[in-house]
Amino acid sequence: MSGAGATSSKLAEEKRLAEAADTEAAGEQLPSKAAEEPAAKAAEEKLLVVDSLESPTAPPAAIPSTATLTAGTPPAATTTVPVLPAHHWTEAPDDGLDDNDSALGDGADSTASLSSSILSYRTIQGRTYHSEMGNAQYWGSNDEGHNESLDILHHVFTLALEGKLYLAPIKEPKKVLDVGTGTGIWAIDFADAFPGSDVIGTDVSPIQPTWVPPNLRFEIEDCTQEWTFHENEFDYIHIRYMVGSLTNWHALFKEAYRCLKPGGWFESYEGSPSLHCDNDTIPPTSALGQWGPLFINGGRQIGRSFTVVEEEIQRKAMEEAGFVDIQEKSIKVPSGSWPEDPRLKDMGSFSKLAVMQDAEGFILFMTNVLGWPRQQVDVFIAHLRKELRVCKYNYYYNQRVVWGRKPEL
Ligand SMILES: C[S@@+](CC[C@H](N)C(=O)[O-])C[C@H]1O[C@@H](n2cnc3c(N)ncnc32)[C@H](O)[C@@H]1O
Repeated sequence: MSGAGATSSKLAEEKRLAEAADTEAAGEQLPSKAAEEPAAKAAEEKLLVVDSLESPTAPPAAIPSTATLTAGTPPAATTTVPVLPAHHWTEAPDDGLDDNDSALGDGADSTASLSSSILSYRTIQGRTYHSEMGNAQYWGSNDEGHNESLDILHHVFTLALEGKLYLAPIKEPKKVLDVGTGTGIWAIDFADAFPGSDVIGTDVSPIQPTWVPPNLRFEIEDCTQEWTFHENEFDYIHIRYMVGSLTNWHALFKEAYRCLKPGGWFESYEGSPSLHCDNDTIPPTSALGQWGPLFINGGRQIGRSFTVVEEEIQRKAMEEAGFVDIQEKSIKVPSGSWPEDPRLKDMGSFSKLAVMQDAEGFILFMTNVLGWPRQQVDVFIAHLRKELRVCKYNYYYNQRVVWGRKPEL
C-alpha cells in the first residue's frame, strides 16, 4: 500500500458509486443484508409511517454559510438528549439476541504478547472485535467492512485539516509515535511525507497492512497500560479518534508527556458523535438525533466518555500533564453533500459514506451494551440509512484538534 494515491482513487470510486445509488433511489431501499430479513421489511413499513408522523411540518433547514462551518465555533455543552429505549425502533418482540460474546467485560488483565491470542477476536453477531488485552475496550469492529470506514474517515479528517496530516509546528521529527493507529493509514501517509523519520504505530488490533514505507513499523500495545517506550524518546506523538475508548485521558496524556523529548510536540484530534444543525431541526427522536445519545449513553455504561470534545478534556489533560504553548482548532465536519464549498461538500459526502457503508460496525458494540435486540438494531439502521439518503438536515459533527509542547529542560 503506498498511502494516499491508491487510497484516494479507491475512495473516489466508492463515493461515485454511493452518489449514483443515492440519485437512483427513487423508492426506499433497505440495506442489502437487512433487506433479506423479515425484521427489515417491518422496518421499511414503519419507516414510511414514522416519516409521515414525525416530519410533515419540519421546516426546511437553512444552509449555514461556508464561513460558519470553517470558523469552527466551540461546540455546545454535553448533550442532554436521552437515548430512546430500543422498542422505539420497532414493536417486534425480542427474538432472543444471539449474543455469543461473553468477553465484553473488563475481564482481562494481561498486557499483549505477540502470540496468536492477539488474533483471537471476540465476536458480536458475526462482527469481529479486538481480542482481550489489558484494559482495552474499543467499540468499533476490526473487520474489513469497518476498516474501510476508518480509511474513508482518514480522508475526511485530512480534508478537515485542509490537506495536512497535523497542525503542530513540527519540522523534521526524527522519531514519531501514532497511538491507536487503526488501519495505520495516517502513519503510512506521515511516513511517506517524512522519509527521514522513524515512525511507529501502536494498536490493540493487528489490522495494519504489511506493505508499508520502510521507515514505519507497527506494534501491538494497549495504550491504557504503561507504554513500553522510554522516557524522552519521541519528537512527535499523534493520537486521533480514540473517543469512547479510554477511561482515563489524563493518564494517557501524562504517558505521552513522559515519552516525548523535551521540546517535542503532542497532538490530539477528537470528535463528538452528536449531530448538530445550526437551526436545531434534527428531531431528537429521529435516528440522526439518536446517533449521539446512543454512543454517549453506551459510553457512560462502560466508563468511556464520548463527550471528550464537549468537556474540553484534551486541553485540560494536556495542561495537567505539563504541556505548554497549547493551541487548538475547532472544526465543524458536515455530513452529506449539502455544503456549497467544494472542500466541505467533499468532506460531507465522504463522512456520510463512512457511515452508510458500515453503520452496523459503528453501533453494534454500543447497542449490545445498551441491550438492544438484533431486530431493533436493524430497524434503527434502516431509519438511519433512509435519513442519511434523504438528507433533509444540514447537519455536522464537532471536532477539535489540540496540540502542545513538552517544555525544554
Ligand atoms: C476509531 S479508530 C481510529 C484509528 C486511527 N487513529 C485513525 O484516526 O484512523 C480507534 C483505534 O484505537 C484503537 N484502540 C482502542 N483502544 C486502544 C487501546 N487501549 N490501546 C491501543 N489502541 C486502542 C482501536 O483498536 C482502533 O484501531
